[in-house]
Amino acid sequence: MKVLIFGGNGGIGRSLCQNLMSRYTDIDLHATYHIKKPEDLSDNITWHHVDITTEAAIKNLASQFSVLDLLINTVGVLHTPNHGPEKSLPSCQTDFFLHNMAVNALPTLMMAKHFASSLRVSNQPKFATLSAKVGSIKDNRLGGWYSYRSSKAALNMLIKNISIEWARHMPKACILSIHPGTTDTALSRPFQANVPPQKLFSPDKVADDILSLIERATPECSGRFFAYDGQELPW
Ligand SMILES: NC(=O)c1ccc[n+]([C@@H]2O[C@H](COP(=O)([O-])OP(=O)(O)OC[C@H]3O[C@@H](n4cnc5c(N)ncnc54)[C@H](OP(=O)(O)O)[C@@H]3O)[C@@H](O)[C@H]2O)c1
Repeated sequence: MKVLIFGGNGGIGRSLCQNLMSRYTDIDLHATYHIKKPEDLSDNITWHHVDITTEAAIKNLASQFSVLDLLINTVGVLHTPNHGPEKSLPSCQTDFFLHNMAVNALPTLMMAKHFASSLRVSNQPKFATLSAKVGSIKDNRLGGWYSYRSSKAALNMLIKNISIEWARHMPKACILSIHPGTTDTALSRPFQANVPPQKLFSPDKVADDILSLIERATPECSGRFFAYDGQELPW
């Protein structure tokens, strides 16, 4: 089983790598990092340095895979050192909005474009991207977080669109949008104050939930939006 995790050094990404290594003894696990290669994870992971906002970097990595069974994209941004998610219109800025789109939405499109040929060789090709419930237009009752919400809504549309194309040309494929739940990582840390303890999950628990969900998923699930616990979410 050949698996590629984008963002293997992130909070959820690291736990996914560790869980995959213990779940599947015969796994050929590849993972990407952005800034620093993790030295404390298993020696059996093949690491690739990739800035996923660059199509050429994704294309170059894809050219190294002749077959791929599972791709999981865990890369995402909610805040930067200079900008947090917007509470209201006056704090919305072009650069921050475009950065959210460039990190949270566009890479999944480019991954689908460049990894389709290696996924097609697999008997059970699966592709999952971590989205967020706040990207659901129907579920949006609080407003705010303009850039993050919009980028995850765009991501969800991409997942749906890709699933329609792949159903025609790659009917065994399953592409999923997954909400991991509020997870204790660097991404959510500044916003955890009002989260009840029982609703704040550890990355290890979330990784286990996500991998169980992906394991159960069939081509009939393709193009759908699921929470970590298997509940289907509205677009
Ligand atoms: N944590 C939550 O509560 C929560 C809730 C809902 C949805 N999600 C989603 O779950 C996913 C994983 O989140 P997380 O909590 O694990 O976040 P995290 O710990 O902040 O990890 C995010 C990862 O993305 C990488 N990254 C950022 N920009 C990149 C770029 N240009 N190229 C390559 N890698 C880049 C980061 O690498 P560097 O640090 O090296 O830049 C980091 O490894 C995200 O899509 C997030 O939106 C999380």
